[in-house]
Amino acid sequence: MTTGKVYVFDHPLILHKLTILRDKRTGHKEFRELVEELAMLMAFEVTRAHPTREVEVETPLATMKGRSIAGQEIAVIPILRAGLAMEVGVSRLIPTARIGHVGIYRDPESLEPVTYYAKFPVDIAEREAMIVDPMLATGGSIVACIDALKQRGCRTIKVMAIISAPEGIKKVHDAHRDVEIYTAAVDSHLNDHGYIVPGLGDAGDRLFGTK
Ligand code: PRP
Ligand code: URA
Repeated sequence: MTTGKVYVFDHPLILHKLTILRDKRTGHKEFRELVEELAMLMAFEVTRAHPTREVEVETPLATMKGRSIAGQEIAVIPILRAGLAMEVGVSRLIPTARIGHVGIYRDPESLEPVTYYAKFPVDIAEREAMIVDPMLATGGSIVACIDALKQRGCRTIKVMAIISAPEGIKKVHDAHRDVEIYTAAVDSHLNDHGYIVPGLGDAGDRLFGTK
């Protein structure tokens, strides 16, 4: 069976910032800034093959041919809460992207995803959707998000997760093999509470200082 595509970044800046992010001594202000920066760097790599078209530009000295972004327009889809900080970073790089919000939390007992909110751009079916969430753990939240996007006709979907567990990658690709996963690290495993080991702990709590 062909497996889905997983891209693991090895850019030195991404690896460096990820190490600081994992450190339990990193406070929530720095944590949030790092997540934003990592999302921006990752989006830079994810969009590397995006099509461009020739345009004419007039400089103060001459007219020349330049290039502009073309092809499918992008919608960034942060999964609440922790995806919000990644959306800030991606939007800084792609300011014209539309944003769709999906509220999902994991039931602490069953670890099953509970969707409590979803609002997408009206033309989501025509856009490339870039789902952003720092953690791909069991994969339940991201599968629920992909399901919601596909139900609305969206066909081009990419996932950007800072840290992934092998279990989560498998779950996403068992359900949606067409979806590409971009991540800065594939960690060892999940613990009994569904946390990624070694991971970075609870992304939402560390971002927003809620614990
Ligand atoms: C975290 C994380 C992902 C999810 C990953 O959110 O930001 O959305 O867990 O876990 P999964 O792959 O097993 O579904 P959480 O459920 O803690 O919600 P929160 O961001 O609202 O705190
Ligand atoms: N959600 C998190 O925030 N961290 C994990 O390790 C797993 C799920």
